Order: sequence, then structure tokens, then C-alpha cells
Amino acid sequence: MTEQETWVLASHNPGKIKELEALLAPRGIALKGAAGLGLDEPEETETTFEGNAALKARAAWAATGLTSLSDDSGLSVDALGGAPGVLSARWAGEPRDFDAAMRRVHEALLASGSEDRAAHFVCVVALCGVDGAVRHYRGEVEGEIVWPPRGEGGFGYDAIFQPAGHDRTFAEMTAAEKRSMSHRGRALAALLAAEFGR
Ligand code: IMP
Repeated sequence: MTEQETWVLASHNPGKIKELEALLAPRGIALKGAAGLGLDEPEETETTFEGNAALKARAAWAATGLTSLSDDSGLSVDALGGAPGVLSARWAGEPRDFDAAMRRVHEALLASGSEDRAAHFVCVVALCGVDGAVRHYRGEVEGEIVWPPRGEGGFGYDAIFQPAGHDRTFAEMTAAEKRSMSHRGRALAALLAAEFGR
């Protein structure tokens, strides 16, 4: 790899973009956002994180011919059979309202009658090379759903997710602390180790 590489980041989600930029900058990889390049967001028609990540990375590569990185991620709650899962963004409606989405998770848990609050975040990143070949890397972080929401940082469902072994939610942590243990941090670490051996 050259000293400084530039990849297209196939995402319009400002929370994800910020986290991915911070994870890759120290490795000498700069990201160009899809929105800044005028790329549309493809519809996520697949039923798996891998499928949707591949679809987004391939669309950005097809439009630019550049190495493209995408992230498909979500919250999976055990007592809800893994929901919202790949539908995590859609549970927030249009326009996105994550206060409503977090309440929906809480209400679904109450309705389930289960006391089990175990959950995990999943992140699958897909890297589409200049030759159009796609490789995936997955990261997960275990934790539990708390109520009421706590903290002002992060994005999405961070305020109701407390990682295992910690007494603060992701939204109560600094960005660096979240990155050090998050599903996104782990997926990126797997990608960097496999692609660059570091
Ligand atoms: P998608 O990958 O674009 O389908 O969206 C994934 C959705 O999952 C995001 O919009 C968030 O709602 C949620 N999500 C993914 N990663 C995180 C995270 O690190 N914190 C909180 N919510 C997340």
C-alpha cells in the first residue's frame, strides 16, 4: 500500500463516517464520503449485514472505480429474536428518529415479557477493491439494553447499550473509548490485519 491511500466511504450516516475516519486516519487511509461525491444511497435490499455491506461497497466502486468501503451495522436484541438487526435504521422511521427507535426497543422488550436484556451490536465492513472483488470483515460487541437512555455522545442506539463489563452506555463514553471496544472498531481491526497485516 502507498503512504497515503484514499478510499470512498459508501455511507451517508454522519455518526458512522466520523467513527470510521477516526479509525482509519492513524493507518494513513483518508476517506471521501459518498455524499460529497454526489453518490446516491442504494436501497438495502439484502437480508444480511454481509449482503447489504457488499451491495453498498459495490455501488460506490461502480460509480467511481475507486476502492470503496462500506459499513452495515445494527443492534441485535436476544429477547426480540435478534431484532431490530438489519432493520435497525428502518426502526427509526423516515426522517430518522432514534429516540422513537430506542423507545420501540424498550416497549418491545416489555411486551415480550422477558427479563433478558442481552444484546449485541454487529458491524460488517465490506471492502471493494479496484478490481471489483469484495471482502467482508465482521465485528461484534456484547452488552445489555438499559432504560432510560443515558448519555449524550455517539449516535443511533448508543444511549441504551451498555457494553458487558462496563457501567456506562456507549453514549456516556468518549469517542475514543467507544472505538476501542466497539463492533466497528473490531471489524476495522480485522480488515486492517487481513489486508495489511497490521
Ligand atoms: P445501516 O447499516 O445503514 O443499515 O444502519 C445501521 C443502523 O444501526 C444505524 O443507523 C444505527 O441506528 C444502528 N447502529 C449501527 N452502529 C451503531 C452504533 O455504533 N451505535 C448506535 N447505533 C448503531
